[in-house]
Amino acid sequence: MAHALDGTVAVVTGASSGIGRATALLLATNGAKVAAVARRADRLAELVGEIEGAGGAALAIEADIADASQAAFAIQRTIEFFGRLDTLVNNAGVMLLGPASDADPADWQRMIDLNISGLMLSTRAALPHLAAAASSDPRHVADIVNISSTAGRVARSGAAVYAATKFAVGAFSEALRQEVTQQHVRVSIVEPGRTATELASHNKPAIVEMINTAFKMDDPLQAEDIADAVHYIVSRPRHVAINEILVRPTEQQY
Ligand SMILES: NC(=O)c1ccc[n+]([C@@H]2O[C@H](COP(=O)([O-])OP(=O)(O)OC[C@H]3O[C@@H](n4cnc5c(N)ncnc54)[C@H](OP(=O)(O)O)[C@@H]3O)[C@@H](O)[C@H]2O)c1
Repeated sequence: MAHALDGTVAVVTGASSGIGRATALLLATNGAKVAAVARRADRLAELVGEIEGAGGAALAIEADIADASQAAFAIQRTIEFFGRLDTLVNNAGVMLLGPASDADPADWQRMIDLNISGLMLSTRAALPHLAAAASSDPRHVADIVNISSTAGRVARSGAAVYAATKFAVGAFSEALRQEVTQQHVRVSIVEPGRTATELASHNKPAIVEMINTAFKMDDPLQAEDIADAVHYIVSRPRHVAINEILVRPTEQQY
């Protein structure tokens, strides 16, 4: 059976859990060969096994995207192994919350290095390969999908630097979109609301409690809901660019 992404190759950063894992699986189910990038090699190996077990093709790339040379390596390794790159999903991210006055500046730097610099450097390394894919079969179009957040639209108390990193993703994405769209490289952002993943668990227990109170809801989004939005973007016909999708759980007010 033919699939929308047959003959294409996707890189998904942060593929070892949550939204990235669900996205890698869905793109693979729809015909893409997937390079799955993250630091936890055991999780990536399990994901690759699952994709291959279902008849797909995948490659695990252990890399710290916050490190410029490793971000470039992840793209290079994909090209060496699969020979092309059609879709880059910049998903790897970290969210360390709390009042700015109490924050550890090292936590701020972690978010800046991954959510902004890592995303930009992965993109820069990928651009020539995406442009090549956009001028060749099978689709004559390529995609960069950047995972932002509702925090990239509305800054909230306790999330100053996380929101700043996601606003930066929006600014970078829009300027880049203008630069590359005439080469048929589409640039999109997806802005999830609360999604049930490991993301909040990297905070101190008191902050986890604060997040659970501020975003108390019975029915948050699942990682698969965001994967679905990414798949929608990358499976549009060549002349349709979905530049932005905001997805909140129905219960989420802000
Ligand atoms: N969950 C939400 O409510 C929500 C809402 C809005 C936006 N988002 C965004 O969605 C994206 C995915 O988050 P998630 O919710 O799926 O959380 P998650 O389950 O914690 O996933 C984060 C992923 O990023 C990877 N990662 C972290 N540091 C990395 C590094 N230095 N280098 C490479 N990979 C790294 C992690 O893998 P390793 O630890 O194995 O490296 C993991 O695969 C993030 O950009 C986040 O800001 C999430």
